[in-house]
Amino acid sequence: MAIDVSKGYQSGFGNEFASEAIAGTLPVGQNSPQRVAHGLYAEQLSGTAFTAPRHSNRRSWLYRIRPAAVHEPFQPLAHATFHNRFDEAPATPNQLRWDPLPLPTQPTDFIDGLVTLAGNGGPAEQGGIGIHVYTANRSMQGRFFYDADGELLIVPQQGRLRLATELGVIELEPQEIAVIPRGVRFRVDLPDGDADAHGSASATGAGSAGVARGYVCENFGALLRLPDLGPIGSNCLANARDFLTPEAAYEDIEGAFELVAKFQGGLWSAKIGHSPLDVVGWHGNYAPYKYDLRRFNTIGSISVDHPDPSIFTVLTSPSDTVGTANIDFAIFPPRWLVAQHTFRPPWFHRNVASEFMGLITGVYDAKAEGFVPGGASLHNCMSGHGPDAATFEKASNADLSRPDVIGGTMAFMFETRKVIRPTQQALDAPQLQKNYHECWQGIAKHFDAGCKA
Ligand SMILES: [Fe+2]
Repeated sequence: MAIDVSKGYQSGFGNEFASEAIAGTLPVGQNSPQRVAHGLYAEQLSGTAFTAPRHSNRRSWLYRIRPAAVHEPFQPLAHATFHNRFDEAPATPNQLRWDPLPLPTQPTDFIDGLVTLAGNGGPAEQGGIGIHVYTANRSMQGRFFYDADGELLIVPQQGRLRLATELGVIELEPQEIAVIPRGVRFRVDLPDGDADAHGSASATGAGSAGVARGYVCENFGALLRLPDLGPIGSNCLANARDFLTPEAAYEDIEGAFELVAKFQGGLWSAKIGHSPLDVVGWHGNYAPYKYDLRRFNTIGSISVDHPDPSIFTVLTSPSDTVGTANIDFAIFPPRWLVAQHTFRPPWFHRNVASEFMGLITGVYDAKAEGFVPGGASLHNCMSGHGPDAATFEKASNADLSRPDVIGGTMAFMFETRKVIRPTQQALDAPQLQKNYHECWQGIAKHFDAGCKA
């Protein structure tokens, strides 16, 4: 029996969810009865320490056809481009920007197509992030994956994905995100079809419906959660009810399959004789979820100036220093700019935090050219950045009597407390723009000691 993709979702963030694909699966009043209904096995999946405070304690109970323990031993699995080696190259204070990585021309699934661009920390220290880009032109065929090192924040830029997980199915498209918790097993399918075995996907992906590309943030630190809102109040930014967690769905399939694990920075492969997506019912608050970025309730200035870009935070992974995130995931969605007496694009700035940006669609308002969908930029700790020369001149002379609307765009940022270290392959990539710094070289000197404004 294959997963029924018509299954729906449960609404809310971090709720105590409960879902069963067959009625009567979940035990009542207890978690581990002597015999589980339908001959299933009970298994707890703990996403935080057993003794974590109640408000941050995450675990789910899974009722499944076979326990997760049933598979052959793992063997190391080589992968040329997906890793956590963030010490290969010196961290650089240079502003960096990349064009999009090319779409695959050979059959490539989600795991095959992962390329690590940068990161910091690592799974051993339980802090930091890995920043990866995926490209894929076929579904994972007979293989399943889990990441023991961190939760995976998946940000599609092109093409739809179907994330078939132990806890249900998530359908995902660009401008939506999904988070797969640490340890949850899943398979990535391309619902629009695979490229054929000869690699019909062109370099641009034109005409290849099943081609996908996007970004992945591998969060080694505390679980992502909604940011506190402070004086904003009890609404706005990403609202909890817009997060969707799948209903239970299961596969009862046997065959010669592969289970791929990411463990302490490397990949491992084990033979498994059945689909591990065999959870018939589950309950708990440790589960995958999706969110449509277009539902973000953006707020901003209605007087002068800009708030700090933390106003755009969707999710945050706190560190052990209050207010200083392991990672903030922020977006720059369509919005009105109405501030008076104000330079309306993002200001020039330097930041103790480090900023990796990507663009899902449209044009980013601080960069008229060069930052394209699927591309990326990195501005590390205290590296100066801001609008390019053309954007500065245009905004400095704009008519502020009318509001500006920024439409049809969705950029995002992974902002981390630790310096983001590009991998050697990212620095060697032909997509690295050698002339990025030139976008600021045309900035004119306007200084006039006698001029008041
Ligand atoms: Fe910035």
